[in-house]
Parts: sequence; structure tokens; C-alpha cells
Amino acid sequence: MEKEQLTFIDDAVREWLATLDDIIPQLIQDMVTGTKQNRFDLVTNVDKSIQDKFELFLNKHFPEHQLLAEEKSNDEVHAKKGHVWVMDPIDGTTNLVKQQEDYCIILGYFVDGEPVLSYIYDYPHSKLYKAVKGFGAYVNGEPLKQPENIELKDAIISFNSLVMNDETMHDLHDASFSYRFIGSCGLDSIRVINGQFGAHINTNPKPWDIAAQFLFARELGLKMTSLNNQPVDFSKGGNFIISNRACHEQILQILNSGQGYEK
Ligand code: IPD
Ligand code: CA
Ligand code: CA
Repeated sequence: MEKEQLTFIDDAVREWLATLDDIIPQLIQDMVTGTKQNRFDLVTNVDKSIQDKFELFLNKHFPEHQLLAEEKSNDEVHAKKGHVWVMDPIDGTTNLVKQQEDYCIILGYFVDGEPVLSYIYDYPHSKLYKAVKGFGAYVNGEPLKQPENIELKDAIISFNSLVMNDETMHDLHDASFSYRFIGSCGLDSIRVINGQFGAHINTNPKPWDIAAQFLFARELGLKMTSLNNQPVDFSKGGNFIISNRACHEQILQILNSGQGYEK
């Protein structure tokens, strides 16, 4: 894609993201929470409105672009053909509902299956993370540096302990420096992107949980693979790790030894 066209799309999407600053406070004030599969699987008017607004934006400005997103049916979407946006309108909905902090908006733009633009908007902290294919990664317009190497013994690692095999979890605790879990796949990944965490593991993410991470990993020299060290298919999701390159191999070894990582 021509740089000019990429800049045009990037400008338009950042302008759209900026409109959320005026909308989200009111949506939160009027928050209505519902459940999906079970009582812990939450969705709110905030998630739905943000996604609806982005869909309207695409229809108006880029009508040929498709949208693959959490709060809609995606039966008609051909994820690897043409221009596709993958969106999690709110990643960390439990955090939004329970603490009004530690949630984000995830957007990944793919052209014929290749990641081209990525955004993770940490709205509560007014930080917009962006990656552009071939041009690096940024936070609020400032370039992000490639994280320093972090060995596992010095690394904070992040995963959902509720869905991790107990023995393997203890092995990970023993081998690493410490454990933290924010509860937003996008923001846990941002800690790795910023060089704060060594790795974030999710044993069952959906396409929208990881849509943006591909390009950040590529632009910043991080590893992003399945837990069997295979490429991750953005259109399907499946287990994944985003990791500092110095601790990736050792973490995968631990995850795949003993009883494995499945609960
Ligand atoms: C969830 C969060 C959570 C992760 C789950 C996701 P949601 O997304 O990212 O940290 O462990 O796998 O489904 O439901 O808040 O958009
Ligand atoms: Ca999510
Ligand atoms: Ca979500």
C-alpha cells in the first residue's frame, strides 16, 4: 500500500478515536451491563456503542472495508480478503464494570491477511499506542524503542491463573521474577511492548483480543507465537504468547513440559 494512502487511513482512524473522548464519559455514566454466556461474561452499552460507531465510520469513509468484531455476527466476513478491520470495542470489560480502569480499545487493520496498521487505545490513561507496517510503533506520537532483552529469571510474566494448569503455573512462578495479570489482553500485551513485562500468555484469545499485537511484535522485535511456537492465525485466534525475545523459548519449554498448560 502507498504511504500516502496509509497516512490518510491512519489520520482518519486517529480522528475517529479522538471522538471517543467526548462520548465515553457519558456512556459510562449511563452504563447498562448485561451478560452473554455466563454471569462472568459481561457486555455493556459502552462496548456496543463504540463498535456501532466504528461500523458507521467505516461505512461512511471506507465502505469497501470489512469489520470483524466481538459484539456482532462475523459470518459474512472474509478475513483474509481485501481490507479488514478487527476490533475489540472494549477489551477488559470486567475491569470497566468493576473498576472503571484498565480497559482499552483494540483495532487491527489487515490487507489481504497482512497486518498494516494497529491501535491499542488505553483510554483511562489517555495513551494511544500505534504500529505502522515498516514504520515502527508509537505512543501518543512518540516512537517506542525495541525493548531490552529480559531473561525469564528477571521477568514479570502475565497470564490468567484461573485457566492455567496448577503445576505448570507454579513452575512459571519459580522460573520467573514475579507474576502480574491486568485482565485486558491488550493492556497485558502493552506491558510487554513497553518492556515492562517479559511475556503475556493467553490460552484462548479470540481474533479481536490479539488483532493489534501482531504488528507491534513485528515492529519491535518481540516474539508472538502460539504456545507450540507456531504462527498465530489472526482470523481464528487460539492460544498465544507475546514475549520478549530473551525469555520466549524458556517459557514455551515450561508450558509444554510436565502436565502442560491446559487446566
Ligand atoms: C478478555 C480480556 C481478558 C482475557 C480474556 C478476554 P474482554 O476480553 O482480554 O484479559 O483473559 O481472554 O476475553 O471480554 O474483556 O473483551
Ligand atoms: Ca477482549
Ligand atoms: Ca471485549
